[in-house]
Amino acid sequence: MKPRLLIRIAALILWSASTHQLFSQKVGFLLDGYLTDRWYLDQKLFMDKVKELGGEPLLEVAHGDTLEQLRLGKKLIDDGVKVLVIVPTDSRQAARIVVVAKTANVPVIAYDRLIMSNNLSLYVSYNNEKVGSMQAQYAVSKIPNGNYLLFNGPVSDNNAVQFSVGQRKILDPKIRSKNVKLIGDFVMSDWGELGAMTKMDEFMSSSQEKPNVVIAANDALANGVIQSLPNDLIGKVIITGQDADIAALKNIVSGKQSMTIYKPIKPLAEMAAEMAIKLAKGETVKGATKMSSGNITVNAVLLDPVVVDKDNYKETVVKDGHAALDEIIEK
Ligand code: BGC
Repeated sequence: MKPRLLIRIAALILWSASTHQLFSQKVGFLLDGYLTDRWYLDQKLFMDKVKELGGEPLLEVAHGDTLEQLRLGKKLIDDGVKVLVIVPTDSRQAARIVVVAKTANVPVIAYDRLIMSNNLSLYVSYNNEKVGSMQAQYAVSKIPNGNYLLFNGPVSDNNAVQFSVGQRKILDPKIRSKNVKLIGDFVMSDWGELGAMTKMDEFMSSSQEKPNVVIAANDALANGVIQSLPNDLIGKVIITGQDADIAALKNIVSGKQSMTIYKPIKPLAEMAAEMAIKLAKGETVKGATKMSSGNITVNAVLLDPVVVDKDNYKETVVKDGHAALDEIIEK
C-alpha cells in the first residue's frame, strides 16, 4: 500500500475515534453502594447497554455516604454528563443533587429507589408496594395464625417505606382480628446482614415468645436472621426475603428460607439505559404511569416482581438464567 494512502486511512481512523469521543453522550451512573449483591449486576447491565447504544457511561459509588453521594453527583455534572441516573443513598437528601442537576440542565432518572423531588425526568423501579404485599401474603397463606416478626431496611430508602405499606395492607386486618400477633417490628439502620444477625440474636435471648414467621424485607436481612435462629427452629419458621440472591436461593433449596421476591434486573437496567440515552440526546421520555409518594408525583415505569420458592425456582430464576442449578443446589 502507498504511504500516502496509509496516512489517509490512519487519519480517518483517528478522526472517527475523536468524533465518537466528542459526540458520544456521557451518562452518569451514581450508585449507593454494594451492600447487597444485586448492584453489581445492575451496574454491569446498565453500563453495557449504554455502551451498546453508543454512550459513554461514567460510574461513581457513594458507599452508603449521603454527603459523598452529593459530592459525586456534582462531580459527574462537572465531568460533563448529559444525564444522571441515581440510586439514592437517602431518598430525601438526594433531592439536593437534582437541584444542582436542574441548574446545569442535566435530567435525572431515579433508579430503583425514588428521590423525593418533583423535578425527576423519570423513576424506574418495580412495584415496591406489591413486593411487600407479596411477602406478607405468602406468609399468611402458610401461617394464618401465629407470631410474626418484621425486619425492614432504613426509612431513608423510600423502598423500605413502600415495602412496609404493602406488608401492612395484608397484615393489619389479621392483627386486628388477632390471628397475627406482632412480636417485634425492627427497622434496621442499613440493609446489611450483620445488623439483622445481631438484632435477631438479642431478640431470641430476651423474648419469651418465639416467631412462627419472620418477614424480612430483603435476602440480606433474611440471611442475618437465619444465622441467629436456633437450630431447632431452622426450617420451621417461615422466612421471606427479596432479590433472589444466590445465598438466599441456596437457603430456599435447603429449606432454611421460605421464599424470595425476584425482581429481574435486566429489563430494569436496560430500560434505564435506553431512557438515559434518549434524555442525553435531548429527547423527552414518558413513564408508563404516574406515581405519587408523599407530596411527590413522578413519571414512572414500574416492573412486576415475582414470588420464588421451593416449588417454582426452576421455572423462574433458573429458566431466566438469573441462577444456575449447580450454584444453588448443595452437592
Ligand atoms: C432495593 C432492594 C435491595 C435493598 C438493599 C432496596 O432499595 O429495592 O432490592 O435489597 O435496597 O440494597
